[in-house]
Amino acid sequence: MEKRQNIITTINNQRVTIDGEMAFMPLAHYLRQEACLTGTKIVCSEGDCGACTVLLACEIGNDGKLNFKSVNSCILPLYLIDGAQVVTVEGIKLSDTELHPVQQSMVDCQGAQCGYCTPGFICAMAGMAEKYKSENKSITEKKVKNYLTGNLCRCTGYRPIVEAALKIDLGKTQLLKDRYNNPDWLLEMKKIRGQSVTMNFKEKSIFLPVTIDEALKARALDSELRIIGGSTDIGVVVNKGRMTTPKTMALYHVDELRNISHDEKYITVGATATLSEFEEYIEKFIPELNNMLHIFASPQIKNQATLIGNVVNASPISDTIPFLMVSDAIVVLQRLSGVREVKMSEFYLGYKKLDMKTSEIVTSIKIPRLLKNESLRLYKVSMRKDLDISAVTFAGIVKVEKDKIKSARFALGGVGATVIRLKSIEDKIQGQDFSKNQFEEIAKELPLLIKPLTDLRASKEYRMKLAQNFFIKFHNEISSGVLS
Ligand SMILES: Cc1cc2nc3c(=O)[nH]c(=O)nc-3n(C[C@H](O)[C@H](O)[C@H](O)COP(=O)(O)OP(=O)(O)OC[C@H]3O[C@@H](n4cnc5c(N)ncnc54)[C@H](O)[C@@H]3O)c2cc1C
Ligand code: FES
Ligand code: FES
Repeated sequence: MEKRQNIITTINNQRVTIDGEMAFMPLAHYLRQEACLTGTKIVCSEGDCGACTVLLACEIGNDGKLNFKSVNSCILPLYLIDGAQVVTVEGIKLSDTELHPVQQSMVDCQGAQCGYCTPGFICAMAGMAEKYKSENKSITEKKVKNYLTGNLCRCTGYRPIVEAALKIDLGKTQLLKDRYNNPDWLLEMKKIRGQSVTMNFKEKSIFLPVTIDEALKARALDSELRIIGGSTDIGVVVNKGRMTTPKTMALYHVDELRNISHDEKYITVGATATLSEFEEYIEKFIPELNNMLHIFASPQIKNQATLIGNVVNASPISDTIPFLMVSDAIVVLQRLSGVREVKMSEFYLGYKKLDMKTSEIVTSIKIPRLLKNESLRLYKVSMRKDLDISAVTFAGIVKVEKDKIKSARFALGGVGATVIRLKSIEDKIQGQDFSKNQFEEIAKELPLLIKPLTDLRASKEYRMKLAQNFFIKFHNEISSGVLS
């Protein structure tokens, strides 16, 4: 089948074709420099401030309409928006004389001072209004604070912005999915998403396969091919000049990799499922993880990032790896000659060294479901609560029957080169009393087992103390009957 050699997308309903090397350009730069849509601002270029927030719809929902979500356009290369619809702050107003209810509310509540952050806030709030109006739910202060964690403002002190968000008139809000419901584009979008794309120029290349087979063949042929998930890790390092990605393959046109499903034993998460989709899916299955994901990055990041990207990025302070380790999750790796399954606890061989061959792709993660009487706790401490990378993370699962520990699994992040499973402790306490004393003993033993380092985020002494306290907290919470 012939492969397309350009990126086709729409921006505020204008069809745009992107050829050549420009496809590597971050969307924010394209909007400002090429499309003259300068409402979108660039401040940090690393997904941290939200000034570049736009709305992106890559999916057609169950209602046959576009699903708009807020994303950071500064770390989003154009090759990741093939077949999508982008709405920028310029596309949010209802007409040249009529503001969107979100914009009107910001004006009424004086939510803008210097105004530099305002377009980003408007887009993030429009994304929030889109979600809650579609779900027929009201906007609460908690939801506002959660939704706006990805947007920083230096001037207002946030009170008027939160007030503006709470006063959005949802009754008057026309959904973007209705305003941008362009049947011709929806038809073309389906066609576009069914076509693979190959773009080659000089030493660089982009490949967007539509089948796993195509992806595996490409991976087998070129060991330098870099797989791109949501680009929330890679986009930052590329922007900061610490990495180049000349040969890239993104998998988002491969439908079967987008699935999240469950059976009696496992929850299975496909390679391109986003963290937002995962967060929503597991709300009823794993509420503890769902809670932890509320303080993972920002909505803009989670709407783009994947769980598998977090796993393969292999950061020792990743927030999902400790959970996946204690859950005994399984990484499913595929290559042309077959499929291999590796336990999470055996996937990391050293700092950013993985049991993954250059010919392989991670196609999914299988997460065993919690068993009866198993309790899970996940803790994260960072310098600030929201939108911050962890200093130390903890995951623990314990099964207690008649006050005895039937089984226990623990993992700590931020205390070594990889997230570590504490097998020696797990073995030692099996069959013992589930007592405070037991966990105080573990805390005393920890200095023999972990060697945290001092860096910008925390000193080694602080990290050690946190790790010790997590065990005490774990016992306190489980024994006080707050079981999950
Ligand atoms: C502002 C900001 C805040 C953040 N906050 C947090 C946080 O609170 N906690 C946290 O843990 N992380 C955080 N992150 C890190 C990041 O968002 C996550 O690690 C995210 O899950 C990465 O997913 P991605 O799809 O964007 O990965 P990408 O950047 O696309 O890729 C990451 C790595 O995975 C590889 N990869 C991706 N898919 C596959 C595949 N299918 N097969 C093989 N290799 C693959 C890529 O080659 C790359 O090496 C944050 C990042 C930013 C920018
Ligand atoms: S410019 Fe700060 S998040 Fe994009
Ligand atoms: S109004 Fe000035 S940065 Fe927010």
